[in-house]
Amino acid sequence: YARSLHIISIPANGNIQERINTFNPTAERPLVLGLPTGSSPVLIYQHLVQRHKKGDISFRNVVTFNMDEYVGIPREHPESYHSFMYKHFFSHVDVKPDNIHILNGNASDLEAECHQYEEKIKQVGGIELFLGGIGPDGHIAFNEPGSSLKSRTRVKTLAYDTIIANSRFFGNDLAQVPRMALTVGVQTILDAREVVIIITGAHKALALQKCIEGGLNHMWTLSSLQLHPHPLIVIDEDATLEL
Ligand code: GLP
Repeated sequence: YARSLHIISIPANGNIQERINTFNPTAERPLVLGLPTGSSPVLIYQHLVQRHKKGDISFRNVVTFNMDEYVGIPREHPESYHSFMYKHFFSHVDVKPDNIHILNGNASDLEAECHQYEEKIKQVGGIELFLGGIGPDGHIAFNEPGSSLKSRTRVKTLAYDTIIANSRFFGNDLAQVPRMALTVGVQTILDAREVVIIITGAHKALALQKCIEGGLNHMWTLSSLQLHPHPLIVIDEDATLEL
């Protein structure tokens, strides 16, 4: 992770801190970010929190949309993506609570919840920069293998591989891992004006190879970035093993 943090610190156009400063967001023209959970972005959040505490950046005029959320665990559950975001980021910066959007995996009408999420993204003028990670099977957000590359925010059943991968957050007990999630779609991500994906570790090397060197393929949903005009993939050396 130290390596991935080092790379993201290079002033590429995908560096969030730099984008906030150069975008110079205002209340009328906020910067809209798509944000991930998972271990990949943790050091980026730490870095942003530190810079915020030093007074280098403000999130007052930043609007956020999280990528995904589990269905059926309480919002307060320590492993909900809601809890994750407050623990690692939102509780430590000056983002306005009304500007934070996280899918509600306990909504009584999940389809309506997903539809409204897409509407809210549209209302703020779309997402400027989407930051994400991938699963070892190449999924972005929870767009599991087989997801339509035209997909929008929706309910998704998790792949068995994802349940295994995420069981580490649930005491390695597969039975505790939620089976379903709400997720932005592949097309929701592709609509963002810039997409930055962090990939670290040998366990993601095959996914990186399939998505970069393979063809556009709905079984490796990261490959959809081949369609995007401004993608940036941030990797460490271990992730390059299959290239
Ligand atoms: C989950 C999330 C993805 C995330 C992935 C990677 O599957 N839904 O959005 O990219 O985990 O997690 P990690 O960074 O911990 O490897």
